[in-house]
Amino acid sequence: MTALGLFAVDRPSQPLRVNRDIAGITDELAKLGVRFEHLSLAAHKVGDRDSPDILETFEPELGELRDRWGYRAADVIDVHTVTDDAATLRATFLREHTHTDDEARFLVRGTSSFFLHISDEVWRLDCEIGDVLAIPAGIPHWFDAGDRPEFTTIRLFTDPAGWIAAYTGDTIASLFAVTGALATLPVPVA
Ligand SMILES: [Fe+2]
Repeated sequence: MTALGLFAVDRPSQPLRVNRDIAGITDELAKLGVRFEHLSLAAHKVGDRDSPDILETFEPELGELRDRWGYRAADVIDVHTVTDDAATLRATFLREHTHTDDEARFLVRGTSSFFLHISDEVWRLDCEIGDVLAIPAGIPHWFDAGDRPEFTTIRLFTDPAGWIAAYTGDTIASLFAVTGALATLPVPVA
């Protein structure tokens, strides 16, 4: 289930609140300058495929996103726990960084989480198949899919050179490493 959690930077084990409503998530992220949409995908489109086929399979959605969001290029990140070096990949993603271009992703298989570090708060977005997200340039963020990552995501670019990570050196990402879905974390009773 797509979910957006808000955390204090010094309390990674307990969200201040969690939103599981797509419209509410979209609104909250928009206030942060983050574009978010959930696309309903036909069941036959979702599954294990080789990378070239993934871009072809989702060309109708990608074409629409290119038109509406202005991206010019796309590639595929396809991670399988069984065949990939999951620990090395995770260590690569689990470091706070920024970009000079948007980081836009369209998740088409599995699950994964994005974290945004804004002032003294951390926003965690648990993504499901069909979620599209664009983090604006300059927002410190990181990515995690747990210790058994299984996902396929399409990256959308305006400028591939702008997507190169600038690491902040902050070790905060390791404190928020994913051990389960947001739904498994305790939320304080209002
Ligand atoms: Fe990034």
